[in-house]
Amino acid sequence: MENRVVISAMNIRKEYVTKKHLFTGKIKEKYVAVKGAAFDIEEGKTVGIVGESGSGKTTIGEIVGGLQKPTYGSVLYYGKNIKELSDEEYQGYRKSVQFIFQDSKGSMDPNYKISDILSMPLITTNIAKNKIEAEKLIDEMLLKVGLDLSIKNKYPGEVSGGQCQRAAIARALLVAPKLIICDEPVSALDVSIQAQILNLLKELQRELNISYIFISHDIGVVNYMSDTILVMQNGNIVERGEAKEVLLHPKEKYTKTLIESAFLEV
Ligand SMILES: Nc1ncnc2c1ncn2[C@@H]1O[C@H](COP(=O)(O)OP(=O)(O)OP(=O)(O)O)[C@@H](O)[C@H]1O
Ligand SMILES: [Mg+2]
Repeated sequence: MENRVVISAMNIRKEYVTKKHLFTGKIKEKYVAVKGAAFDIEEGKTVGIVGESGSGKTTIGEIVGGLQKPTYGSVLYYGKNIKELSDEEYQGYRKSVQFIFQDSKGSMDPNYKISDILSMPLITTNIAKNKIEAEKLIDEMLLKVGLDLSIKNKYPGEVSGGQCQRAAIARALLVAPKLIICDEPVSALDVSIQAQILNLLKELQRELNISYIFISHDIGVVNYMSDTILVMQNGNIVERGEAKEVLLHPKEKYTKTLIESAFLEV
């Protein structure tokens, strides 16, 4: 059976206004961060996005997840333009597309315990009707992501980077997403912890059939995680293809440079 397409990015272009006229508000300068990106994400699959700093990876992820609007082009969620979704459908889309960032600690309120941080999305989305229901779901999820239940009473500042990333994965999974946009999720972690988190993400994908957009500047990591790879340079997708194929037979000089520098690092 053919896989269903969760998200289609249709010719996404993003222009940031970098200078406006002080009085008239007229745009004096803009920067084009993404110059026309198009790709599909199928259920249960991973699309990797690799490229140097500033190439537009995060911008694409944020547009696909609805955190930013494209200047031109559109995002389709199960074939429907997100601009044409009803309020209820839009809420469903935003719930179904979750994020995991490099700096999970920064994305958690330091004044709340992990248990509160995890129960908030459950309560706001009505997945759990009360605290007891939320607690049960949280306990199950913490075990699934390999965390001890004692973490619930800790504050984000009291847990390690790896534990915090596991908690962030738990938070994303609790609302049963279709797609998780993983933006450099292991870049801040030690190499041994990186492997644990990558393998956890893979196991969860097999079990839950979720899709990932996996963003990294490291082509080795992207290759390990992805079914297909998009290589970005200066806001353009300069190469795309099946992960192994791109790594073994890169067509673009830029891709070859990325591969060479990845192997120099190790
Ligand atoms: N709000 C903004 N206003 C103006 N320019 C922006 C804004 N956000 C991003 N940019 C610019 O757009 C370009 C793409 O940024 P983006 O964050 O998507 O890159 P990236 O590939 O994720 O880089 P990194 O690997 O460093 O995270 C960069 O040149 C960046 O400076
Ligand atoms: Mg980025």
